[in-house]
Amino acid sequence: MIKEKIITEEIAKEWQKEFPILKEVIHVGNCSQAPQSRRVRAAIEEYLDNWLTVGMDWDYWVTEVNKAKKEFAKLINASEEEIAVTSSVSMATASVLGSLKPEGSRSKVVLTEMEFPTIGQVTLAQAEKGNFEVDFIPVQDGKIEEEEYDKYVDADTLLTGVTFGYYQNGFKQNLKRIGEIVHKEGSIFFVDAYQAIGTAHVDVKEMDIDILTTGNLKYLLGIPGIAFLYVKSELAEKLQPSITGWFGMENPFAFEIKNLDFAAGTRRFDTGTPPILTAFAARAGMEIINEVGTKNIEQRIEELSQFSLNLAQDYKMRIASPSNTEEKGAVTAIECDNAHDVEAKLKDQKIIASARGNVIRIAPHFFTTKENLETVFKHVDKILKS
Ligand SMILES: Cc1ncc(COP(=O)(O)O)c(C=O)c1O
Repeated sequence: MIKEKIITEEIAKEWQKEFPILKEVIHVGNCSQAPQSRRVRAAIEEYLDNWLTVGMDWDYWVTEVNKAKKEFAKLINASEEEIAVTSSVSMATASVLGSLKPEGSRSKVVLTEMEFPTIGQVTLAQAEKGNFEVDFIPVQDGKIEEEEYDKYVDADTLLTGVTFGYYQNGFKQNLKRIGEIVHKEGSIFFVDAYQAIGTAHVDVKEMDIDILTTGNLKYLLGIPGIAFLYVKSELAEKLQPSITGWFGMENPFAFEIKNLDFAAGTRRFDTGTPPILTAFAARAGMEIINEVGTKNIEQRIEELSQFSLNLAQDYKMRIASPSNTEEKGAVTAIECDNAHDVEAKLKDQKIIASARGNVIRIAPHFFTTKENLETVFKHVDKILKS
């Protein structure tokens, strides 16, 4: 059990020592790539050293992948058996969509227009082969009201795909309430948690989520090349992935070329040789998040989120994010004419932030201090006025 502990400015400052770059740089680009921690680096070196000195150590390497699955399961309150590992959210989504079979008139997938584009692209690519239609819930003023789910999700809906956090402006959805609407109609509830997990508490059981996917390089402190897929075990048993491989079979080492023998449960969504090096990194990153505690981090992020909104308002910036922290995650998005230019100018000032479209996204993590945010907003203001 992780004790609830308020993350103070002092605790945040202490944690900054875990991330060497923070001695030199203010990093509020966590919605894109988190800074490198000592522990993640050590985990990567552990793999490199083992490969260098032992040469080949499959049992140890695969055990490390299972440890990463276990750490992810802990993060979302699932069991290790309910987790599959993949290389990206796109792959995980393709795998899920490829396993869908329309049942009678239940042949529609509902997505929102605030999904990261890859979710829409993967779904459209699978729709023809899977014989289902795709409908999109529109974004209005940077948000989607919960009633919209009532309008779009009906008895014909096979799966509803929802993003936890909107990549453009940090809008955070209430998964529990949306899950209730979606399940009332008998649809599968699919969540892309990439833009919020690590900063917001996720409990797949309490939120009644059927399927959840995320990568690791943002708020989970990892690197590119690995993603996780949670599928509720009762549901996994009913799905037959069209994207599969020997690691998704009941016994990968049976080497039976003519036998498609899916593993029991979610492991059937595993495919080929797992991403080993990235699993070392992912495990170490998620260990930090689990150690600090997702409820503690959520509380801290809410505080930093409000603090950022106040600063943006004080500087009279055009804010593209929701104005209340109940529906806003870590990101504070500031509208600007040339966001990529602003990102480059901030980098010159040793500040890492992330441009997307017409906004510059300021995305702190639990280790960001209020002093850091004051410096960031001061520089954004200067750049916007220059
Ligand atoms: C919410 C969200 N989903 C998915 C992706 C893309 O995932 P991947 O590149 O692992 O397919 C991103 C990338 O930034 C994202 O922000």
